[in-house]
Amino acid sequence: MDIKAKMNSRFRDLQGGLFLNVAKADVGESVGNFLRRGGENMAWADPFAPDPAIPESVKKVMHEAIDSGLPAHYVMPIGQFELRETVAELLTEQLGRPVDPSRNVIITPGSDSGLLYAMMPFLAEGDEVLIPAPSYPSNFLNSKLLGGVAVPVPLSDADNYRLHIEDFESRLTDRTKMVLITHPNNPTANVFRRDEIEALCRFVVENDLILVSDQAFQDHVFDGIEFVHPCTLPGMWERTLTVCSISKGYGLSGFRIAYICADDHVMDVLYGAAVNVLGAACTLSSLGAITALRDRDYLRDMHARLLRRRDLAYEVFSQIPGVSLHRSESGILSWLNISRLGTSAEICAWLKEHANLMVNSGAPYGEGGEGHIRVVSGCFAHDEDARLRFERIREALTELARQKGLA
Ligand SMILES: Cc1ncc(COP(=O)(O)O)c(C=O)c1O
Repeated sequence: MDIKAKMNSRFRDLQGGLFLNVAKADVGESVGNFLRRGGENMAWADPFAPDPAIPESVKKVMHEAIDSGLPAHYVMPIGQFELRETVAELLTEQLGRPVDPSRNVIITPGSDSGLLYAMMPFLAEGDEVLIPAPSYPSNFLNSKLLGGVAVPVPLSDADNYRLHIEDFESRLTDRTKMVLITHPNNPTANVFRRDEIEALCRFVVENDLILVSDQAFQDHVFDGIEFVHPCTLPGMWERTLTVCSISKGYGLSGFRIAYICADDHVMDVLYGAAVNVLGAACTLSSLGAITALRDRDYLRDMHARLLRRRDLAYEVFSQIPGVSLHRSESGILSWLNISRLGTSAEICAWLKEHANLMVNSGAPYGEGGEGHIRVVSGCFAHDEDARLRFERIREALTELARQKGLA
């Protein structure tokens, strides 16, 4: 039987993972095998991995919860009330407008499912989604899985990936339904400035579109750069779905806790199908997340650590001959232009062989990604451990540059 023939075309051609084009560099067993042979992973955007990272305050609450036996039971499919309340308090402060925990917030088991769910009510067959690229690979696949068409809007390394509205306008058609931004962006780690976001939101309103704003990396923006929430701009509240996560900002990716914030009318729909699509988040980690989100000292401490790490990565990587990079403006990622040394896949393979490290090829991040690699510089809990890995990358790529006559 040709079972694939029975599948619909949105799924039929799937081949097993997010970064499959990297010759299975970081999916499934290939990761396991590489790690078992002593290789190290700097390809997952997971702060401080693989080291232990749960803050003490959170551990204590979770231990107590386990002892009570209560986390054996479900939370509501839209999210545990106290967690929604905590999120709503935070959002009210960040957005400068009231956010109702029972009308404007839904908890999702991670923001990967949150992103798909945010797009789901809007996309019909053939609807187009404008996505600045390079971008998080899931964004392209999500559009396809929902029957839509991802339309990349290329950004340029030369101006550190700024948004130019004429590039959106030239791709607008009568099928354009949505704009999806990753803000701050993954993989480039740049933060879109107020003028860019304002222009984008005017474009969204004027053309009656929906905005999905993936803000998984919003918690650590550096150098005093203003972080502008698109949903706060004129006409945007009712047409924006803001998707956030505790995975990156709080270093708690294993908890699988994230949230969507949106207007009541949108949320009615998301609440309506929550049990069907999301199930519910984990009860134990919902309890842990409340403590983490309330622990401002922990977030401040994490910010200082990640800023130090950003500087360390920039210092080491900018010494590599033939490689260029911008100083990351947010989060845990370094995005290196390696095009003078080889293709993205060649450089990933070289680093696996000569530095025993797995990093991401830029190619799956869409247009403008080829010629780059992404290194998760926020890996490893201790700066010295990270520095050793950064040095291994520097040495391996410097050797390659030497062979190519660039050093
Ligand atoms: C930009 C971006 N958004 C969302 C996610 C999903 O994260 P999670 O499902 O852990 O919230 C990721 C994970 O790498 C990401 O990079």
